Amino acid sequence: MHPIPPPYLTRRGFIKTTGAAGLVAGMPMLAAPEARSESAPAQAVAEPAHSSSASPQPAADTLRALASKKGLLLGTAFCHEAFRNDPGYGGVLAREFNCLVAENSMKLCDIQPERGAFDFTVPDAMMTFAAAHDMQARAVPLVWHDALPPWAEGKTFPRQEALAILREHIFTVMKHFRGRICAWDVLNEGLSDSGPGLREEGPWFHSIGSNYVEEIYHLAHEADPQALLFYNDYAMDGMSDKADRCYLWLKELLARGVPIHGVGLQYHVKLEQHPDPADVTRNIRRLNDLGLSVHITELDVWLPAQSTAEHLHQQAAVYRGVIETALAARKCPVVMLWGFTDRYSWVPGTSGGTYDQALIFDSDYHPKPAYAAIAAALS
Ligand code: G3I
Repeated sequence: MHPIPPPYLTRRGFIKTTGAAGLVAGMPMLAAPEARSESAPAQAVAEPAHSSSASPQPAADTLRALASKKGLLLGTAFCHEAFRNDPGYGGVLAREFNCLVAENSMKLCDIQPERGAFDFTVPDAMMTFAAAHDMQARAVPLVWHDALPPWAEGKTFPRQEALAILREHIFTVMKHFRGRICAWDVLNEGLSDSGPGLREEGPWFHSIGSNYVEEIYHLAHEADPQALLFYNDYAMDGMSDKADRCYLWLKELLARGVPIHGVGLQYHVKLEQHPDPADVTRNIRRLNDLGLSVHITELDVWLPAQSTAEHLHQQAAVYRGVIETALAARKCPVVMLWGFTDRYSWVPGTSGGTYDQALIFDSDYHPKPAYAAIAAALS
C-alpha cells in the first residue's frame, strides 16, 4: 500500500521539527548536515569555491535566508555550461537558493549516452557544489519520452528488454545518488496533452504497454525504499482538464498501491496566460487530500520579447502569487525556478525569440521586480 506521508513532506511538519532541513529529515545521509545548515544563520553559507568574482556574504534578507526561515525550499535549475564558464553564476546561485536540480545533465541522453555506460561527471560536479553550499537537490527525470540517446530514440524494444533497460537505469542512478536527493521525478510528462490516457510517444509506452507507469514506480521504490517519488508535468498547475485527468489517474494509481508520494507542477506560464492562484490552491488541496505532497518544479513567467516596465511588475505579481500559494498550502514545501538569470533560459530558444525575460535576475544578474516580490512574499 501507499505509505502514509511522513511529516517532513509537509512544510508545517518540518518547521515544527528541524526547520527547512526537515524536508529530508527522514533520509539517513542528509539529516545531520542539513539540520545544521538551514537552521544556522544565513551568514554561515560559504562562497562557491570556483567563483573568482564571488558575491559578498549573503545577508539575512537573501531569498535563501528568507525561504529557509519560512521552511521553504526555494531552488533553481542548474545550468552546467554557465557554472563551468561564467564566474558570476555560482555565487548568485549559492547565495539565493537552498535547493537545485540539473536542468539537463540527469536526463537519459546525458547520463547514459551509450547503452549500459553511465556518465555521472556533470551531475557529480553539481552535487559537490550543492554539498559544499548546504543545498538540497531534486532529481528530474528518471523516465521521459524526450531527451533520449540515439540508442533509444525512435526504438521499440521487446517488453522484457525494455523493463530490463529501465531497471538498470533506475537502480544505477538512484543508488549512485542515494540519500542525497530530496525528491525524484520518476516519470516526467506521462499524460497525453490531447485527451484521456497516457502519452504514447517514446519507447517506453510502446515497448512495455500502459502499465509501464506502475512498473517504473515499483522499480524506483525497490531501488531506494526511502526515496520520495514524484510525478511531474505541465499545464496542470490550476484547474485545467489535464489537472483533472491527472488527479483521477493518480487517485487510481494510489488505490492500486503504486508508490507515488508527490506531484510536481512545472508552472511554465506566460504573462497573458497563467492560472488563477485560487485555482492552484484548489488543485494543490485536492492532491494533498490524496496524501500527495506538491512541489512547484520548473517555475518561469514568460514575457513578450519586447517587454516594458509594466510587464516586469505584472510578472513580479505572478511570482509573488506562486510563493504565497505555496506557503499557504498544507503540503507544498518546495518551489523550484527553471533557472534564475535571463542570461541562461530555455525560453527565447523554445519560443523562437517571441518570449524572453522569464526569470528573476536579468542577463547581468541584476534583480528584477520579481526578486523583490518573492522577498516580500517570504517576509
Ligand atoms: O548539449 C548540447 C550541445 O552539446 C549542443 O551543442 C547544443 C546544440 O543545440 O545542444 C545541446 O543540448 C541541448 C540542451 O538543452 C542543453 O542546452 C539540447 O539540444 C536541447 O534540446 C536541450 O533542451 C532542454 C529541454 O528540456 C530538452 O531536454 C532545455 O535546456 C531544458 O530547459 C528543457 O527542460 C524541460 C524539462 O526537462 C521538462 N519540462 C519542460 C522543460 C522545458 O522544455
